[in-house]
Amino acid sequence: VKITIIDREGETHEIDAPTDMNMNLMEVVRSYEIAPEGTIGICGGMAMCASCQCYVLSDTELPEMQDEEEAMLAEAFHVEDNSRLGCQIPITHDLKGLKVQLAPEE
Ligand code: FES
Repeated sequence: VKITIIDREGETHEIDAPTDMNMNLMEVVRSYEIAPEGTIGICGGMAMCASCQCYVLSDTELPEMQDEEEAMLAEAFHVEDNSRLGCQIPITHDLKGLKVQLAPEE
């Protein structure tokens, strides 16, 4: 599925993320090396570090936030109204046209 990710340097990456590999947005950022190793996905996708925080810039409908994600975002830095944790967003065809920007490192 085609999505756009703006990295922490402001560079735009248009990628075709695989929908058949059971990946989430954080894992896609890692595997496409959109953020340097060790700066994203630190908790391994457990909604416990917020290193995968991103700002959702498109009006794409995303899965509703679960309690863990909400609790983590309540504690994280740089949180905005459009913040989500990338590790909590599975890559599906529903993400078509999604545009996100990675939040600054904490
Ligand atoms: Fe830690 Fe998403 S990878 S909260």
